[in-house]
Amino acid sequence: MSESKAEQATLILGDSQYQLPIVEGSEHERAIDIRTLRDRTGYITLDPGYGNSGSCESAITFIDGEQGILRYRGIPIEQFAGSPTFTDVAWLLIFGELPTPAEYEEFSADLTRFANLDEGMKHQFEGFPRTAPPMAILSAMINALSCFHPELHELEDLTQFRHAAARLISKIRTIAAYAFRKSRGLPYIYPDPSLKYVPNFMHMMFSQPYKQYICPQLVREALNLILILHADHEQNCSTSTVRMVGSSGANLFASCAAGVCALWGPLHGGANVEVLTMLEQIHAGNMTPEEYVKLAKDKDSKVRLMGFGHRVYKNFDPRARMLASVAERLLPQLSGDDPLLEIARRLEEIALSDPYFIERKLYPNVDFYSGIILRAIGIPTNMFTVIFAIGRLPGWIAHWWEHDQTQRNKIARPRQIYVGETLRDYVPKERRG
Ligand code: SDX
Repeated sequence: MSESKAEQATLILGDSQYQLPIVEGSEHERAIDIRTLRDRTGYITLDPGYGNSGSCESAITFIDGEQGILRYRGIPIEQFAGSPTFTDVAWLLIFGELPTPAEYEEFSADLTRFANLDEGMKHQFEGFPRTAPPMAILSAMINALSCFHPELHELEDLTQFRHAAARLISKIRTIAAYAFRKSRGLPYIYPDPSLKYVPNFMHMMFSQPYKQYICPQLVREALNLILILHADHEQNCSTSTVRMVGSSGANLFASCAAGVCALWGPLHGGANVEVLTMLEQIHAGNMTPEEYVKLAKDKDSKVRLMGFGHRVYKNFDPRARMLASVAERLLPQLSGDDPLLEIARRLEEIALSDPYFIERKLYPNVDFYSGIILRAIGIPTNMFTVIFAIGRLPGWIAHWWEHDQTQRNKIARPRQIYVGETLRDYVPKERRG
């Protein structure tokens, strides 16, 4: 970050003028630095939903919403379409550089080594009803994990942090798979140390005691890319939650458990489930794509075109473009022609030519196609947002560490403008109307 000495913002309040510094990021984004505003003027700014407010300076992910650009540590996500693995990208996001071969091997070995859960944790799954939402279990069990690793509550050095990160990234798969198995009344399948990250997760999800599930290469590639494309997205709702919780000094596990809760919402990570529900509703013949789009445009309907629109992208979400091409290529090979893909294409075609969506710059986002692909590789709908959380975890960890290293002991605490009752007295019960 550089303070543009030449440029300052002048704020005129009544007869007073105030100079506020302009800061400029490495991609020439600019901000008015208001850190001293209240002390100097008595004023605060008001920005419900923070659409115009920067909460921090970050070096992890860059998004240009108007151009549809997304880069992890400077690398465009389009370049991850071919070779890298999720493990590679997780290291990049957390530590800032792609891992050397030695670093990769050691990190990958840690992910294998840490995959098991303490047997004491397994019994905690028994306390949940089979109908428990997997995101509730995921958040609870990530917190429970910290009880089995008290040594990772205080991360004093990079080695400790690296072990905590590896444990979380490894074990989130096991927790997710056990939550699924529990919901189906199936026995837990232990991690297989001979398998890499994605195949091991799919093994724990779909193997049987008498028959191992072998992850097809196509499925492995698709899930790797889905996890990579979900790995970080700068200050989205769940990542900001992780930074907010971490700013109080809460440990990494508690902060990521809070991130899971924020991601769960249907306006955020829960949208991928809603997209599939929408497509299945249309497929069931309840309504045509045209009728659904009409409903989504009607304010009174409270219906939204799920998987469309974005707080930052006012152009195509580059992840949606990549997932759309993955769906086109993979689905015919994985599950034959999927009528839901046809419906999704039709919805996209209608919406992208409709003034309502064009005027509001509403385009398909990452969730629009991810659900169709996850369904094609056999992931049950109620696990879609869990997959999103597995993907997003390295981003949460990277941001938690960045906050810890750059703003430790600076608790996040927004202000407000009070609009409630002015001063009044307490009325004893006997005198109330
Ligand atoms: C993710 O932030 C991130 O980075 C998130 C994410 C990540 O990787 O972390 O990218 C992941 O959460 C993607 C978004 C997934 N959510 C959905 O697909 C749910 C459907 N989308 C919307 O609810 C909405 O678009 C949001 C929440 C995503 C963004 O909302 P905004 O930018 O705050 O827009 P808004 O609610 O202020 O709406 C602006 C206008 C309104 O109409 P008017 O009042 O101007 O007439 O656009 C309309 C809205 O009604 N609108 C939609 C719509 N999205 C916005 N109308 C119909 N369908 C939609 N999907």
